[in-house]
This record gives sequence, C-alpha cells and structure tokens, in this order.
Amino acid sequence: MKISPKMKKSLNDQVALEGAASNSYLAMASWCEVTGYEGAANYFYAQSDEERTHMLKIIHYLNDMGAASTIPAIQSPLSTFKSLEGILKIALKNEQTVTAAIHKMVEITQKEKDHSTYAFLEWFVNEQVQEETKFETLLQKFELIGRDKLAINEIDKILAAESPTPVDSTA
Ligand code: FEO
Repeated sequence: MKISPKMKKSLNDQVALEGAASNSYLAMASWCEVTGYEGAANYFYAQSDEERTHMLKIIHYLNDMGAASTIPAIQSPLSTFKSLEGILKIALKNEQTVTAAIHKMVEITQKEKDHSTYAFLEWFVNEQVQEETKFETLLQKFELIGRDKLAINEIDKILAAESPTPVDSTA
C-alpha cells in the first residue's frame, strides 16, 4: 500500500489546514475569554483541541502509510474580532474551506483508485457535515434570540452547554 506524491502533498497540506484551524479557534477562545464570553471561550478552547486531534489523525495516517508527515510552521491567526456573531461567521467560513479541501482530496483518491485514503477520509467527510451544521445552527440563534446584551448572554450560555468535551491535556 502506497500513496501517490500528489496524495501525500494534499494530506500534508491538510495537516497544515487543521493546524491553522486549531490555532484560529485558540485565538477566538482567547478573545472570548478576555471579552467576558465564558461559555464561548470554553467552546472554542475545546474546538481548538478537536482540530488538533484532526491534525494528528492525518499525521498518523501519513506515517502509517510510510509517507512521512511534514509538521507545519505556526502562523499567527486573526486575533481581533468585532463580535461573537462575527467569530461564528468566520468559523463557518473556515469550516467551509476545510470541507472543500477534504472533498478535493476525495476526488483525488477516486481518480487514483486509492481505496485506503478514500476510506480514511470518510470520517472527515462526515465530520465536516456536522461542523458546518453546528456553526449554521449557532448563527441562527442571533436571528431567533437577538443581538442585544441579554441575547448574547443567552447565546454564550448555549455555547457553554454545547462545548465539545475538552481534551484532558494532563492524561
Ligand atoms: Fe477539522 Fe473543523 O475541521
């Protein structure tokens, strides 16, 4: 079992994209924390951890396939934001970019008849459906509840309740 140089490059690019997503969510979490959006801060810290696990999944896959992974440089993400709604809009856009990249890789696997990578990417295809739906649903809350201080406080509580389970970094 071997993957093509093209597939290897795409997967390594995806490692960088997932790493950048992790970093971007970290910046969002930090901004929320200093702004007083405690629920959203927890939500995005956990989301940042989740993206790191996505990055690790691909690193392990590349290494298992004998196509050593490339660890990307960390670039400074956007770190100043206008509002919680603005952050969620950026998050949705980021996820749409990730989805497009995953779909492109799936097309490469189909062209190359690379069944192993096709099967590996299935998890990511499904995950992206959930990720986009999650942020679309959260953005709808602003239409439903509003954008005044009380509404944002309410949305912050929703984010707290929906926080992905944080990864235990001490384990
Ligand atoms: Fe790993 Fe949210 O894309």
